[in-house]
Order: sequence, then structure tokens, then C-alpha cells
Amino acid sequence: MAKKIGILTSGGDAPGMNAALLGAIRSGFNSGYEMYVIYDGYRGLIDNRIVKVDKDFANEKLNCGGTMIKTARLPEFKEESVRQKAVEALRKEGIDALIVIGGDGSYMGAKKLTEMGINCVGLPGTIDNDIASSDYTIGFDTCLNTVVDAIDKIKDTSSSHHRCHLVEIMGNNCPDLTIYAGIATNADLIITCDNLLTPDQIKAELSKLKAENRDLALVCVAEHLFDCGALAKEITRDTGWDARATVLGHIQRGGVPSAMERVRAISMANYAIKLLNQNIGGVCVGFVNNKLTHYPILEAFDLPRNKHEELYELHNNIK
Ligand code: ADP
Ligand code: F6P
Repeated sequence: MAKKIGILTSGGDAPGMNAALLGAIRSGFNSGYEMYVIYDGYRGLIDNRIVKVDKDFANEKLNCGGTMIKTARLPEFKEESVRQKAVEALRKEGIDALIVIGGDGSYMGAKKLTEMGINCVGLPGTIDNDIASSDYTIGFDTCLNTVVDAIDKIKDTSSSHHRCHLVEIMGNNCPDLTIYAGIATNADLIITCDNLLTPDQIKAELSKLKAENRDLALVCVAEHLFDCGALAKEITRDTGWDARATVLGHIQRGGVPSAMERVRAISMANYAIKLLNQNIGGVCVGFVNNKLTHYPILEAFDLPRNKHEELYELHNNIK
């Protein structure tokens, strides 16, 4: 009898998750597996939403944002008794291997399921790019393009009105989207947890730009650091700039996955099937220095995060 592999998406959705799904299903079929999807992340394991799929299941959604098998957050999955129900549901279907597409929280669930006898492989699926075991997470490239497109539009109107604009960029506590977007849009200030300025320092920098008679000022700010609306009011009061703030929010999570996103997602999914084929579980897949690789999930958590010092230096050199 053919062996069976399940796939689920978990945590925040990200463009490219459908491409990963397609890659895993196609590659799994071609390696002789029966393929199953689980709807709504780990919750679907508890609620028994486990569905056998055919080879073409994800084809039509390859170019769509979101995840066609939905996603969820299930805090109770940290409890062993809840995970035991998941293991029983999988066993009932004869599934003993799982591909989990999600962030580091989802990886933790995958690691624990592996310890309970279900071989799991994690694929990095999150817009945040906050998984140290991969240079790129699935969703980052598309999200970055969405952010840059939005900022380009904001700059049009900022320039017309000679305004200062603060753009708050989602990314959890990871600075990557903000630093990359800031460089791609020639931001005057890029403010992240690794490059933090106080409100007084921000206003002092903006006052200097005003004195230089700049057409507009653009400040890219990572989420969770400031109340950008309140800061814009302070800037208007104290610097001579007429300032506005835009919080991009969940618009960053949607949209058609970029070509690069799809290629990376499909490649990582294909690699995951190869690992499961060799009975390797409890690992996560990543691109490191343009090469596919994998790490034990616990080891991956201890890898140092790239602090992008070279990108901050680049920004200083082009200011
Ligand atoms: P992400 O995977 O994007 O980091 P979350 O941190 O919300 O998103 O985690 C997604 C899901 O993974 C959680 O809702 C939970 O079901 C599961 N999970 C998170 N942490 C753990 C853990 N320590 N043990 C078991 N499951 C976990
Ligand atoms: O992890 C992805 C992410 O979009 C983060 O950038 C953000 O902080 C968070 O999820 C938002 O979560 P929610 O969709 O639950 O509001």
C-alpha cells in the first residue's frame, strides 16, 4: 500500500503557500505517495478535516495569495493531550508523515508531533522573514513588493504636498521587511529594533531635512515600535513638516505570489518530500546561500539571525 503524507499551513498566511502545496502534492505523487491536506492548520487535525487530494488539487490556486487549505492558530496545541488527538486522527487515516508550512510557532508543533511518532518537515511560511534557518521565507518576496508598491504611491502624494510620511511596516519583531523596503524606496529614515531612534532623534533628523528644503520626507518604521499617528502629529507640531502616517497592516499579507516566491516554495516542498522519502523528520527546510538545506528544528531556533549590518551601512551610504 502507498505511504501517505499530510500537508497543512499554520500561523499567519503568506503568499506562496499555495505554490508550496502544489510542489509537495506533485512531488509526493511522483514519488509514489498518497497525498492528504489538512484544513485550518493544527485545528483541522483535531476537528478531523483531513482530505485526500488528487495530483491537480492546487493547480488553479498557484497564482493566488492566501492559503487554499486555510490556516489557524491553536494555542491548545501546546498541550500534549491535544496533540495526542491529532496523532490519533492521523493514525486513523494511516498518515505518518506531515509537511507543516508556517513560522517558528508551527515548527515547534511539528517538532513535538515528530517526538510523538509523526515524521514532520517544516517549510518556512511567513511574510516576516524571521526564521534564521532560511535566508528567505515563503511570502517575504511578494510582501516586500507589496510594501514597495504602496510606498511608491505614498511618495507620489507626499511629493505633491511637500509632506513627511511615516509608513508603519508589518513584520512582527523582525526588521527585514522594513530595511529592504526602506532601501528600495530611498527612505530618509529606516527605524527598526536594530536601528532604533527616539522620537526626539527622529524629529531632529527631519528638521535637518526640512532645512535642506527637501521635497518630501519618508520614514519607514517597523511595527510595534511607535504609535505612528501620534508621532506624525508631534512631527507636524515640532519640525515644520506637515506629516501623515499610514499603517500598511494586513494588505501586506495578500496578493499574487511573485515568480521567485513560487520557485522557492516549490523547490522547498520538493526537498521536503525527498527528506520524508528518506524517513527524515523533525527538521525544517531553508535556502541558505542559495542552496537548499535542512536543520533539526531545535537547532534552527538557536541559529543567529542575520542582523543585516551591511544593509544599514548601505542605507547610510546612499542617504
Ligand atoms: P507561526 O507559526 O507563524 O510562528 P504561531 O506562533 O501563531 O505562528 O504558531 C502557530 C501555531 O503553532 C500555534 O497556534 C500552535 O497551534 C502551534 N504552536 C506554537 N507554539 C507551539 C508549541 N510550543 N508547542 C506546540 N505547538 C505550538
Ligand atoms: O507573522 C505574520 C504577521 O503578519 C506579523 O507580521 C504580524 O505582526 C502578525 O502576523 C499579525 O497577526 P494577525 O493576523 O493575527 O493580526
